[in-house]
Amino acid sequence: MHLYPLFILSFLSLFVLAFQQPFHYSIPRAFQNEEFRVLSHASYEKHKIRVKRTTQELCDGEIAKGFSGYLDINDDKHLFFWWFNSRSQPSIDPVVMWLNGGPGCSSLGTGMLMELGPCRVNSDLKTTYNPYAWNSNASIFFLDQPVGVGFSYSESNDTINNTESAADDVYAFLKIWISEMREFEGNDFHMAGESYAGHYLPIMAQEVYDRGGINLKSVIIGNGGFSHLDQYPAYWDVTCTNITGIGPIYDKKTCQHMELGLSECTRLLQACEEYKNKVICDAAIGFCEKLLAEPYNKTGLNPYDMSKKCFGGDGGCYQIGIDIAKFLNQESIRKALGVEEFIGQFNGCTDSVTAAFTKHGDEYKPTPPYISYLLDHGVNVLIYAGTYDWICNYIGNERWTLNFEWSGKYGFRAQRLREWTVDGNVAGLTRKYKGLTYVEVSGAGHMVPYDKPKENLQMLNRWLANEEM
Ligand SMILES: *[C@@H]1O[C@H](CO)[C@@H](O)[C@H](O)[C@H]1NC(C)=O
Ligand SMILES: *[C@@H]1O[C@H](CO)[C@@H](O)[C@H](O)[C@H]1NC(C)=O
Ligand SMILES: *[C@@H]1O[C@H](CO)[C@@H](O)[C@H](O)[C@H]1NC(C)=O
Ligand SMILES: *[C@@H]1O[C@H](CO)[C@@H](O)[C@H](O)[C@H]1NC(C)=O
Ligand SMILES: *[C@@H]1O[C@H](CO)[C@@H](O)[C@H](O)[C@H]1NC(C)=O
Repeated sequence: MHLYPLFILSFLSLFVLAFQQPFHYSIPRAFQNEEFRVLSHASYEKHKIRVKRTTQELCDGEIAKGFSGYLDINDDKHLFFWWFNSRSQPSIDPVVMWLNGGPGCSSLGTGMLMELGPCRVNSDLKTTYNPYAWNSNASIFFLDQPVGVGFSYSESNDTINNTESAADDVYAFLKIWISEMREFEGNDFHMAGESYAGHYLPIMAQEVYDRGGINLKSVIIGNGGFSHLDQYPAYWDVTCTNITGIGPIYDKKTCQHMELGLSECTRLLQACEEYKNKVICDAAIGFCEKLLAEPYNKTGLNPYDMSKKCFGGDGGCYQIGIDIAKFLNQESIRKALGVEEFIGQFNGCTDSVTAAFTKHGDEYKPTPPYISYLLDHGVNVLIYAGTYDWICNYIGNERWTLNFEWSGKYGFRAQRLREWTVDGNVAGLTRKYKGLTYVEVSGAGHMVPYDKPKENLQMLNRWLANEEM
């Protein structure tokens, strides 16, 4: 453990304090601004949560109450989070956990400060109130996981390389946080995320459901990656046809070449699923990636939004991504959030974590079977997708929702897509059967809450309130 004398002193005294004054919803009043409080749980002796009240000037500006801090696991792993109370009725509103993907990308860096958090970062490195934040009618927290991502760290430099191990730590976090924040215990709980969260969340949610003690109601995933077999071939549809309304993107020659290779790509991906062998999967992905994905890079288009050029071309493609990293690297901000001093520069995504997951072959395990398990156990699932995203496009998402095995498979396939509207305007198409809802958001890219904030919040609120789209 990094031993910082001052930190240890205050840590111990707060620990004692925490036992003397049970932690209830009065937290805000109990907080001194510069102070960490420590939460613990009898069945998780080696885990603690240090929380710090974040000032309203920092982000939200007015109503919601925020807390940031760390979950300390076994004195080794430390997961950073930022929590915001619902702007409406925190005591009864649901609680939503948000995860960005990667694997290896920060939920704070993208989800919170660019997409759906209570504020957005501007180019002057100040923040602006977000009227369409997801905490309008729900409390929400953004978790940087696994260790090594964002402000989360491991003292032994342990690198998590698969979703199952990451799920263990996320479950520990939920158990402690939800049971200590009595105000929220028993409130509906929803696990939400984007992109590689199509991998994380089905596995994590099954873990949460099986281990119990948390009132898990649904899983919400935007432009997720679930199934290579369904999703790789869809690159052809969105770049070689005009199904999106902004295609085709490639020339005829490139598309003919792609079309000829589609069957081979599919055959290899089937073998990958069947044999669950990393060598076979590496070969399949190598082939499909070269055939279907590589040509996109030459277009100079944004892989998260086919209607735009990639800004800066550094993989992030958005100016705001650069501003957010600058914002989070300011000394004053890091201090206000309680970020450990020895943590280096904030990066939106951590390459070493991505590399560890890739080396392990984590992405080769299709996650629709977990969705099936959740649906069959009464946990509802909302799959949404912006129609301009390339990387985890809606065609691939629609396809896996139609193809995977679950008790409602044929009922779901029998539903026609219908329009859904916001303020009388068509926002996209949707299909629902039993616990599964699929929603397209027209004209949005990968980061739907960034591109279509109003429509996205309406979608969320209808879902949380158990209403039809
Ligand atoms: C959502 O929040 C707004 C204000 O933040 C409130 O007026 C409205 O009643 C809330 N809706 C529900 C369903 O709680
Ligand atoms: C972990 O990595 C940091 C930065 O590279 C290094 O300073 C530290 O000594 C490492 N710790 C262990 C236990 O290896
Ligand atoms: C693609 O579809 C859009 C919307 O339907 C249409 O306006 C456009 O002309 C089409 N482009 C091509 C090349 O056909
Ligand atoms: C294309 O790939 C190169 C090399 O990996 C990268 O530097 C560049 O940013 C990429 N361009 C786009 C538009 O993604
Ligand atoms: C994944 O992590 C585990 C535990 O740290 C390690 O034993 C294993 O070798 C790693 N796998 C790969 C492929 O790196």
